[in-house]
Amino acid sequence: MSNDGLYISDPEHRQALLREAAQLPALTVNSAAAANAVMLGAGYFHPLQGYMNVADALRVADELHTADGLFWPVPCLNLCTEPPPVRAGERLALRDPNVAAEPVLAIQQVQAIEQLDAAQLAHIAQQVYGTQDRQHPGVESLLSQGSHAVSGTLEVLNYSYFETEFPDTFRTAPALRAAFRARQWQRVVAFQTRNPMHRAHEELCKMAMRETGADGLLIHMLLGRLKPGDIPAKVRDAAIRKMVELYFPAGRVLIAGYGFDMLYAGPREALLHAVFRQNAGCSHLIIGRDHAGVGNYYMPFAAQEIFDQLPAGTLHIDIVKADHTAWSRRLGKVVMLRDAPDHGPGDFTILSGTEVRNRLAAGQPLPPEFARPEVAEILMRHYQQVGPG
Ligand code: ADX
Repeated sequence: MSNDGLYISDPEHRQALLREAAQLPALTVNSAAAANAVMLGAGYFHPLQGYMNVADALRVADELHTADGLFWPVPCLNLCTEPPPVRAGERLALRDPNVAAEPVLAIQQVQAIEQLDAAQLAHIAQQVYGTQDRQHPGVESLLSQGSHAVSGTLEVLNYSYFETEFPDTFRTAPALRAAFRARQWQRVVAFQTRNPMHRAHEELCKMAMRETGADGLLIHMLLGRLKPGDIPAKVRDAAIRKMVELYFPAGRVLIAGYGFDMLYAGPREALLHAVFRQNAGCSHLIIGRDHAGVGNYYMPFAAQEIFDQLPAGTLHIDIVKADHTAWSRRLGKVVMLRDAPDHGPGDFTILSGTEVRNRLAAGQPLPPEFARPEVAEILMRHYQQVGPG
């Protein structure tokens, strides 16, 4: 089975499917289902072939694998509030809610239309997000998507708004593998981020490159939806590019993005992050403190510990487990706490993305121990435009 994803790249085939789609019953999917389609199309969700049925979703939520035994950490669903106008066995055009005029994003071969009851949805939320609290943005998103689960395989026809809005940054998994081959990079460390990179992020990446002897670093940013208050992808992209240009060795870093909405699922999302960096040809993924977390829903290193619970051989990507990194006032540089056992709590300035956002929203400058000045300038300009967050 090709690991290139479910995107139909042959132009004639795609045109024929678009003609067919014009005649098919249609469903405008929600943003989460659209993002799943983009990830399936782009090869990041290999070897999934489409949206899961209820049995698979529950097995994945409970046991981290589908009924067939395929490891998968988060249900990949197409949920809707009303049953779609098709029956099992028929084909359905999926319209994109995130693009004007809602063009067809994919064609789904419908396997089943089932209903999840409220208890099942709450159970999935509990298993995947560790909570049923609707204050959690991922839980709120899941529980507001509806209860009709439309399962079945997909043929993906475009990459939604990601390709057009982020032409220099959006990359598919096969495109990344090809880029690594072209650079003759064999050991590639991936860094997941939804934030502009502050000093802790930068040093984390440099430490991971040294520790793994990597040929290259992939800074792989999320380009999809975020919770209010998070910094928009375009601003973040510009800030990261400036930091890499000025503070990383030339030719060792690839900056790219993927089209998915943030789940804030902490440990479960960390597993998903590992799956799709593996599909993108990376040898390592950095998992630091409170990876993919939000609020205080997860223990700071739960997203590292979950990897220790997987049966051996589940994944073929190595995890670089990073300790909390912070600015040492004594040493005048960023260190990992575990590497500075002689320091007391008063010796550190804690560098968190939340703190950076709070300062920017309050119109306060970012000190150099938080962000590089050129990065701080881009972020401050953004906050001056949008006003206090
Ligand atoms: S995430 O939601 O994409 O994980 P973020 O962009 O803040 O959020 O973090 C990217 C990666 O850096 C994650 O692996 C996270 O654990 C790690 N990280 C961020 N800040 C720190 C820090 N101060 N110490 C250690 N790891 C960190």
